[in-house]
Amino acid sequence: MNDALKKNPLVELIQPEQFLGWTWSVNYEEAVVLTHETLQTAAYGAPNHCFLLATTLDASNADSLDNFAILLRVTSASPLLPSCPAEDTRLTELKSRAAKFLPPEPDVDAFGGLHCRILGTFHLRDGQLRLGSDVESFINTAALAVYRPTARALETVVNYSSPERTTASLAEAQRLGLKGDLPRFPIGTVRYSSTDRLHRGGEAGTAAFKLNAIDFLARRTAVFGMTRTGKSNTVKQLVSVVMRAGVESGLKIGQIIYDLNGEYANANQQDKGSIAEVYPSDTVRYRMIPTAGFEPILNNFFTQIVEGHHTLRGLIELNRVPRSADLDAFLAIDFAEPRREDFENDATFTHHFSRYKRKISAYQAVLARAGFELPDGFKIAFDAGPSIRNKVNPTVDPANGLSAEAAYEWFQLARQIQDELITGNNQNWVEPDMNVLMNLLLQKNDQGAYIPGFRLLQPFKDYHAPNRTTDVCDEIYGHLLTGKIVILDLSVGDPTQRERLSKRIARHILQSSMTVFNSGHVPPNIVLYVEEAHNLIGRNESLTEVWPTIAKEGAKARLATVYATQEVSSIHPNILANTENILCSHLNNENEISELAKYYDFRDFSKSIIRAQDVGFSRAKTLSNPFVIPIQIDKFDPEKEKQFLAAKKTIR
Ligand SMILES: Nc1ncnc2c1ncn2[C@@H]1O[C@H](COP(=O)(O)OP(=O)(O)OP(=O)(O)O)[C@@H](O)[C@H]1O
Ligand SMILES: [Mg+2]
Repeated sequence: MNDALKKNPLVELIQPEQFLGWTWSVNYEEAVVLTHETLQTAAYGAPNHCFLLATTLDASNADSLDNFAILLRVTSASPLLPSCPAEDTRLTELKSRAAKFLPPEPDVDAFGGLHCRILGTFHLRDGQLRLGSDVESFINTAALAVYRPTARALETVVNYSSPERTTASLAEAQRLGLKGDLPRFPIGTVRYSSTDRLHRGGEAGTAAFKLNAIDFLARRTAVFGMTRTGKSNTVKQLVSVVMRAGVESGLKIGQIIYDLNGEYANANQQDKGSIAEVYPSDTVRYRMIPTAGFEPILNNFFTQIVEGHHTLRGLIELNRVPRSADLDAFLAIDFAEPRREDFENDATFTHHFSRYKRKISAYQAVLARAGFELPDGFKIAFDAGPSIRNKVNPTVDPANGLSAEAAYEWFQLARQIQDELITGNNQNWVEPDMNVLMNLLLQKNDQGAYIPGFRLLQPFKDYHAPNRTTDVCDEIYGHLLTGKIVILDLSVGDPTQRERLSKRIARHILQSSMTVFNSGHVPPNIVLYVEEAHNLIGRNESLTEVWPTIAKEGAKARLATVYATQEVSSIHPNILANTENILCSHLNNENEISELAKYYDFRDFSKSIIRAQDVGFSRAKTLSNPFVIPIQIDKFDPEKEKQFLAAKKTIR
């Protein structure tokens, strides 16, 4: 073969040893291929859904360079029934032509037809391989030689990316400061059918399928499939290939997993090795309840006043704590910090700010009384004018900071002399919020009768993280910026709180990245993984809620969403329609299948999806690929990943 031929990407697609037969009929949409069992066996089978290439290209003839290969997908077996004498003659002619590829006296009953759908046409332009999504012209009577691509040739077919997308990918890589192209993520190998004895067996080899980073980053990816068919494994595989690609390319990609069952945070019996265990120094785990090895998702109630108060409100509602006028009034307090721009001048702002400080100090005293642990070295500090200080306790100035006990005593004394404080300029001391907080602190209502007060908050003290110095959302976002994997282990803790905090974290990520985007900078690449996605982006969910907003608009802010569910039909149609990548393993009913069949050429796979229950046997449609590709998702292999990282570290 001369050099020109060797470098011709079209020639490389054609593997003479994979010859399968000839096209018997072709039109714009479909083709029927004549084949023989012996040829099929030699080509390692011709399973349903397999890709075929039909061409006049002669791999040994340079004149055929300006040629094409039609890409076909087998969709069923086809009877070879000539409908006119001309067709009959052609059939006989093709069969006799087959003789030189077959043993002497071949079994004439072993001829058969494969019905195929046309997926497109590979051709060359300026020496580059292109795939048009149809056929431009055809001659029904010209028998095209048909080959079943395997290994390298098949990899070229399934990983085809148009020159335009390749250029876009290179430009994106340059924008991100990477040398060369964006990474690709190998996630599985081509698999056509449940029975894969021949087509993926020993000599046939396998063909790797790779997700293009440009298709994946800042995009939506859906993972569908019945329970135990490998959705979580797919997510793990994605996390690990993104991690690998990040390490190899130097691109920082933050990943956050909403881990409902704790399966990413902790190794289980069956699968051994969790994400957290494989990447110990690149993973940060969070939990709702204090646990060794986990950061608390919780906030510090003494410093994150609004958030803490919000949490208490949720907990009180959830636990149906008996309500009273004081408790209701407490829950209704607005702890938002006054903002300078809302006030006419500095003096009024300062005045309001002092009032606000006193209010939160009283609240902190209530928390401390209820057993919420003060952060190390924390003092309760607020301004009290000289006239008040002199009345309450001349020897103590709360502006210098009080211990919890001292604050309690100070407020207690202040309450005792409340009537005196009300006179003159000290009206603020009895403003309603302050009054309610004093009632809770001192366990007396306005009439002086006993109330449980702060005791009602006692059961919730474990929701407070005394050692946290930054907001958990800021901390998580910081980790994502440095390319870490953040796992929110949501398998423990109160469900309502979990949901609220999860949403809050998601909103924070969206807002932070949107702020970067709106300021004209490139936001960081972040991938969010969510399971049981029908609960978050379900069809009844308002599109203004945080999860639908991320799924809809996150792309601008370079947020990629990977969502997994077994209920295709319950995903918001608007989001599903905008999902660029879909991976689907087994589904067990027509409803779900018909929903999926509305998209791309998933209809071709309806029967196989409902029939084949093999774990990890999935059909993938990605943004770059114009058609669905059936694949076997690789099993996440903790040992292999650990070895990869260890090798990288030694090289570094
Ligand atoms: N591609 C694969 N190859 C081999 N084994 C796999 C593959 N994918 C998953 N498994 C195994 O199958 C089991 C179920 O997989 P997984 O937990 O990923 O399913 P799932 O769809 O997430 O299930 P669930 O609906 O219960 O969350 C696991 O033990 C897993 O290791
Ligand atoms: Mg799962």
